[in-house]
Amino acid sequence: MGCFCFAKKSSGKSQANNYSQSAKPNNHTDTSKVDLNVNGKKEAHSKDNQLSLDAKRLNLTDNGDTSGSTAQTFTFDELAEATGNFRSDCFLGEGGFGKVYKGHLRGIDQVVAIKQLDPNGLQGVREFVVEVLTLSLADHPNLVKLIGFCTDGDQRLLVYEHMPLGSLENHLHDLPLGRKPLDWNTRMKIAAGAAKGLEYLHEKMKPPVIYRDLKCSNILLGEGYHPKLSDFGLAKVGPSGDKTHVSTRVMGTYGYCAPDYAMTGQLTFKSDIYSFGVVLLELITGRKAIDNTRPAKEQNLVAWARPLFKDRRKFSQMVDPLLEGHYPVRGLYQVLAIAAMCVQEQPNMRPVITDVVTALNYLASQRYDPQIHHVQNSKRRDDDQRHLVRDGSSSD
Ligand SMILES: Nc1ncnc2c1ncn2[C@@H]1O[C@H](COP(=O)(O)OP(=O)(O)OP(=O)(O)O)[C@@H](O)[C@H]1O
Ligand SMILES: [Mg+2]
Repeated sequence: MGCFCFAKKSSGKSQANNYSQSAKPNNHTDTSKVDLNVNGKKEAHSKDNQLSLDAKRLNLTDNGDTSGSTAQTFTFDELAEATGNFRSDCFLGEGGFGKVYKGHLRGIDQVVAIKQLDPNGLQGVREFVVEVLTLSLADHPNLVKLIGFCTDGDQRLLVYEHMPLGSLENHLHDLPLGRKPLDWNTRMKIAAGAAKGLEYLHEKMKPPVIYRDLKCSNILLGEGYHPKLSDFGLAKVGPSGDKTHVSTRVMGTYGYCAPDYAMTGQLTFKSDIYSFGVVLLELITGRKAIDNTRPAKEQNLVAWARPLFKDRRKFSQMVDPLLEGHYPVRGLYQVLAIAAMCVQEQPNMRPVITDVVTALNYLASQRYDPQIHHVQNSKRRDDDQRHLVRDGSSSD
């Protein structure tokens, strides 16, 4: 993990609304997306070139039809009206691309999330184009739907379905007073759904796509905590033919970026598997991928977890204390085994996403009931079980 020592730019993120709200102290505990480029190479295209490329590739000069996609084009005025002129009470949050607002589009009578590209932000037109192209080709229940986009003058906006429960990050970390922590079943459901979204990108899309930006803030939650992957601006078409990787400048987010990719710039499907393993660890432990408020040895989640993976007796120490002991022991062992495989240093030792989906589908189907399992568990006397009893309430 020593390769993650690049200087970190601040994206100046702030978040509002009920589900986005999470007090983020300015202490580098957040995991903003950064250019992790080791050589500091500049983008190949100037902004002007990108703009013309943008229009050409998306055929934006006429009706904006993106080769059979259902994404619609909107005028800036339509989106301004939908958000009450980007009123502050419609503000949902902000990332490297720009600000996100909740709005209501009168024309199609739909509540949407509108992302406005900040011309001075960390991301640019390239990400806008990739986002529109990827989401126009994609269609899966675990990927956020792109409803349309706007390319009025220099304005670049993306219009998504609105995800009422916000991002997974907002439900795992820095919970505002009164928000209930996610229970075990919900965590497994989110893990299995996110894995299915990734499986679609890796295995079902033609051409297959490497996501490159898997992290808790990019897993958005719908009713019933149904998870959907979002933000495809960094996505890359996977290697073709005999090739095992695509070479790119290193982009990603601290704590989620696979060490092999960070060091070599060689991007593979296994880079996404590593990031998925980090998300899985966050779901299990409630810890952030990077948390500089913790003691030095605990700041990087994977570095902290690796020695603990080797000792079963330490597994209970890894569980999110907010679960208050309400988790199945066997399920914990199994999901930790999956996470450990995903974050292996050697990319070829990490599993393929289809195997991860199979394993997590099984785990998510094993419903954990704190009432029933508590009773069963109190009758058991084996060492492992006793070890995992916390505050008099344990479970299997
Ligand atoms: N479709 C959506 N529905 C509801 N809320 C959304 C939607 N898209 C984004 N948000 C909210 O806006 C916030 C900012 O999202 P955004 O993707 O711009 O930044 P990020 O994921 O936090 O960081 P990054 O730029 O590194 O991806 C999210 O955390 C989420 O709370
Ligand atoms: Mg995002």
